Amino acid sequence: MNRILFIFVITSTSGIPDKSCDRIRIGNNWYERETLWSDLGRPYNLNIHRGSNTLFFSYTQPETYSDVDFQLAYYNLDSNDHQNIVGIRGGCAVAINQATDEIYLGGSEGIYKYNMLTKLADFYKEDGVNIWALFYKRNLFYISYPDQKLYIEIDDKFSPVKEFIGMEVDHFHVNKDNDIYFANKTGLYKYDNDNNNIHIVNNLITVRQIVEDIDDNVYICTNLGLFSIKVDELEKVSDMKNVHGLAFDRDNNIVISDEKNIIKLINSKSGCIDDKDHW
Ligand SMILES: *[C@@H]1O[C@H](CO)[C@@H](O)[C@H](O)[C@H]1NC(C)=O
Repeated sequence: MNRILFIFVITSTSGIPDKSCDRIRIGNNWYERETLWSDLGRPYNLNIHRGSNTLFFSYTQPETYSDVDFQLAYYNLDSNDHQNIVGIRGGCAVAINQATDEIYLGGSEGIYKYNMLTKLADFYKEDGVNIWALFYKRNLFYISYPDQKLYIEIDDKFSPVKEFIGMEVDHFHVNKDNDIYFANKTGLYKYDNDNNNIHIVNNLITVRQIVEDIDDNVYICTNLGLFSIKVDELEKVSDMKNVHGLAFDRDNNIVISDEKNIIKLINSKSGCIDDKDHW
């Protein structure tokens, strides 16, 4: 009896790799996955309201993958309460002012503000404008669809960002040092504020999302893996090519999406022996 127990202890701690090891590595850390919501269609635009630890995102119906059939939803990471957000046709865009707890949502007929108490979206501005994306940093920005133009809200009114007139923008981000990154179908760029010109950061990747963790590090979610921005270069932190969206919760835990699922990553002390892409 004692001997059997002894053997069991040895094998379970000897680090022999489990064939089905599905832990994943990002940077120097290993994670286990906890699927929060499955059977969605391409969940994109993951954004977490840190005050309530609530994830907002968009998805399409998995059967059709119709791009006109976007839907917004929320998932509260503390209570696991989750639901579709009703009343926004073609809902696909999210931006959050973390300081004032204002949550902006966009769809094919304008911009809305989410009311945490009623769980309803109240119409905000830009009636009839097809909103592709929203971004908040001191001001609210939106990108229109299908012309991919960037607008900024100043003194209660939206106007085109003049430095970006004539340029297609699919993703827009300003970091804490006021560095401006944007992406379109041809790549990822940095706008140089001082000299008024544009640097190519990478023109091989297709960007799916640009996000910040709670320590203001910028991450780029792409078809070729996850990258972080180090000065003006991209540093690959993961080979996972299926990541559609990425967000960091109140405690800087990572939440990702793949083609169909919203997944929370849980820190794991052990990794897999073969540290190739297990996605
Ligand atoms: C993307 O932006 C860059 C930099 O402004 C520009 O040179 C390029 O033509 C744009 N690509 C598309 C598809 O508009």
